[in-house]
Amino acid sequence: MSGGDADMDPEAYYDEFAEREWERLDRDPVTRMEFANTVDYLTEYLPEVASRGDAATDSETVRVLDAGGAAGRYACWLAEREYDVTLVDLSAEQVALAREKAAERGVADRVTAEQGDVRDLRFADGTFDAVCCLGGPLSHVVDEDERATAMTELRRVAKRDAPVFVSVIGRLAMLRDILTFNLDAEHGLLAPIAEDGDLTAERVAEHGDGESWAACHGFRAEEFEAELEAAGFAVERLVGLENVASRMKREMAEADDEAVDSVREVVRLLREDRAAVDWSEHMLAVCRA
Ligand SMILES: C[S@@+](CC[C@H](N)C(=O)[O-])C[C@H]1O[C@@H](n2cnc3c(N)ncnc32)[C@H](O)[C@@H]1O
Repeated sequence: MSGGDADMDPEAYYDEFAEREWERLDRDPVTRMEFANTVDYLTEYLPEVASRGDAATDSETVRVLDAGGAAGRYACWLAEREYDVTLVDLSAEQVALAREKAAERGVADRVTAEQGDVRDLRFADGTFDAVCCLGGPLSHVVDEDERATAMTELRRVAKRDAPVFVSVIGRLAMLRDILTFNLDAEHGLLAPIAEDGDLTAERVAEHGDGESWAACHGFRAEEFEAELEAAGFAVERLVGLENVASRMKREMAEADDEAVDSVREVVRLLREDRAAVDWSEHMLAVCRA
């Protein structure tokens, strides 16, 4: 869990590591699985863009919010498929990079990127045809009440029955991370994280090795579903994006292409198995607002 600042403020952390976020989803076979599996569900659930190739009128534009969109991986993917994307992120550096990446990819006219907070979105009710909050922004909202507010905001700005895609960090995988990479220095974090899922600056100061990531809440699958339902969402699918391959970056990086293909296949096969969801680094919920 190393690499960040001791106060573990998400805005400061993601300002410091903007380029790393752009690279994140293409860094190794495991992060590529997170992206590929997410994209499968986006493709299945997103409303179709009616006028591909033509200049869309206002009524034909399909508007997607990418909340906590960081440097814009998903925003660019969506814009390349002619969705009209609004990216919001806490980090000014991520927002600046998202603008740069959208311009480099020739989709700047379909991506608006601005600084903002998922707990207090500036958009009117029912603005978006679909909403994404992917790769763990809600895990960085550690306070449970604030997380409830953020989920309510995501639902509020979506049109009624619009698809909403939310992925968060799994608690069991966080524990596995400590076990695998930093057991001697951080074993004192295991019990508190197992108990309530929270990795906070106070806990790292007491039990960690001094360095850490941004503050984070790791979810259990059941808890994730319950929080989304409490915010009024209907949860249609729950997906373990890396499931059995979670925390296997080193092993997967050394495996040959055929072996990686086999793992990708089994991850796909197991991705909606509830135990596999619970063990995943990232779990995705596909909801209706
Ligand atoms: C791990 S990154 C995920 C980014 C991207 N969606 C992806 O999947 O690669 C988490 C992002 O959430 C942002 N974030 C954290 N808390 C947030 C909040 N309260 N409101 C908006 N963005 C937030 C961070 O600045 C960071 O860019």
